[in-house]
Formats: sequence, C-alpha cells, structure tokens
Amino acid sequence: MKNTVVTFQQMKDRGERISMLTAYDYSTAKLEDSAGINAILVGDSLGNVMLGYPDTISVTMEDMIHHGAAVSRGAQNALVVIDMPFMSYQASVYDAVMNAGRLMKEGRGGAVKLEGGEEVCPQIKAITQASIPVMAHLGLTPQSINVFGGFKSQAKELEPAKKLIRDALAVQEAGAFAVTLECVPAKLAEVVTKLLRIPTIGIGAGAGCDGQVLVYADMLAMFSDFRPKFVKAFANVGEVMKEGFRAYDEEVKAGTYPTEEHTYAMKDEVYEELEAYVYTLMK
Ligand code: KIV
Repeated sequence: MKNTVVTFQQMKDRGERISMLTAYDYSTAKLEDSAGINAILVGDSLGNVMLGYPDTISVTMEDMIHHGAAVSRGAQNALVVIDMPFMSYQASVYDAVMNAGRLMKEGRGGAVKLEGGEEVCPQIKAITQASIPVMAHLGLTPQSINVFGGFKSQAKELEPAKKLIRDALAVQEAGAFAVTLECVPAKLAEVVTKLLRIPTIGIGAGAGCDGQVLVYADMLAMFSDFRPKFVKAFANVGEVMKEGFRAYDEEVKAGTYPTEEHTYAMKDEVYEELEAYVYTLMK
C-alpha cells in the first residue's frame, strides 16, 4: 500500500519507527521500495553524491524534477519527498508555492522538503494551503553552509538549542507534516520528538527520533569524498562495485569477455550469403 503523510502520522502515533533513505534514480528507488523502506527522499544531496559538487548550492529545480520523476516511477509503496533546492523558496512565498507545485506535477512527489525554521513559516503555510505536504528541515541545513562555515553539528549550546525548539514548534504550527533534524545532539532531538505531535526524522540526531534518514550512497559505502560521524556502512557496495569494474576491465583486455553465451547467433546460410556480399564489395 502506498505510504502517505497520513501513514507517517499513524506510525508516530503507534510508536513505530519510520525508515527513510535518499535515492536519485529509478533502479535505486525500486530496490529501496522492495526492501520495505517507508519513505524515499530525493535529497538535494544529489548535488554532492550524483553531480560531484562540494555542496548543494548549485542544484536546480530542473535537477530535482528530473531525478524526482525517476524516483517516483520506481517507488510503488514508499512516500517520495522531493527537496526544494537552494533559492527555489527563500525569496518569496509565490516562488515557494509555484516551485513546490512543479515538484509535485512534474516530479510526481508525494511531498516536498525545505530547510529553515520560523523564517520560512509563511512559505510552509502557503505550500500546505495549496494541498502540498511539507517536511521541514532543522539543525544542520546544508543550503546555509556559507553561513555555518562548514558541515558542523548544530544547537549544542543553550540558546541555539532553545531556538531550534521554537523553530520546530513553529514549523509544526505552520503545517509541516514532519521535521528532519540533522546533526543535533541526541538529547535535544529527543526533547523535540516528545514536544512535537508530528514525526521527527533524524540524521545524526540519535535514536530518540521517530525515524531515521541516511544518504544511501553513504550507508552503502559508495561515496568516499567524506564520511560524517553518524554514518554506518550497512554494506560495502563501493568495494563490490570496484571489484566488478576491475574484473570487467581485466576480462575485456584479456579477450575473455564476451563469450558465446553473451553473443547473438546468425544462421550459417545467412552468414554465407553475407560473406559472398562482402566479397563483391571488396572486388
Ligand atoms: O539532501 C539530503 O539528502 C538531505 C538529508 C541529508 C536529510 O536533506
């Protein structure tokens, strides 16, 4: 059965943990979906993981629509949440609603995610009023990397922790159906999770959240540019891929691939006629 934002709320209410992973393409989405993952995030981390940028700043609406639509085609049951890229919602409420609408119409997402607290509440309210579910994102918000001065954990001191609590309550009030908490102390995430009616989805925020999300290329050890402290490698797919690429390279160079079983046959009589034809060409 297709998961929706209603499923998210029911899971929190029943005390069931929510599993979420990023995906950026059809095949990965299909694999995650068939593994029973509840929600797939088409994160703007695609800027790092898929496009090789050092951050998420250059990711465009077109990128998100292109990858969002591919993931949506692969996700039968998982709720697909598509990130709103940098500057697609910050400048005005109008931009936010129109761009969220494009992610739903063209990207075929079931919800959108945007970064920020009280300052983006007018956007969350307007998008929600346009019948588009919004996931908020607090703590380390990678689109603000140039303000933070790096990928650092957030809200470790009293005042920033209080502000994060105010932000979480504000985005809930504005209509968000869930909140991502990234790189914040586990104790703070637990407090926020208890205070909120809506689910919290943690990434580097400890076990006290209602659910967890990871970048799939991190948890499969496929992405080696940097490995945040909170990432656990659940499988060494990067090594398996490298091994496969090496074996292919060796066999191609040795001429041992392809063999008969990987080759299409041609009837002898057709081949004989073809040879005669080639002979006429060479005369
Ligand atoms: O873009 C992304 O992958 C995200 C996760 C880190 C939550 O926003």
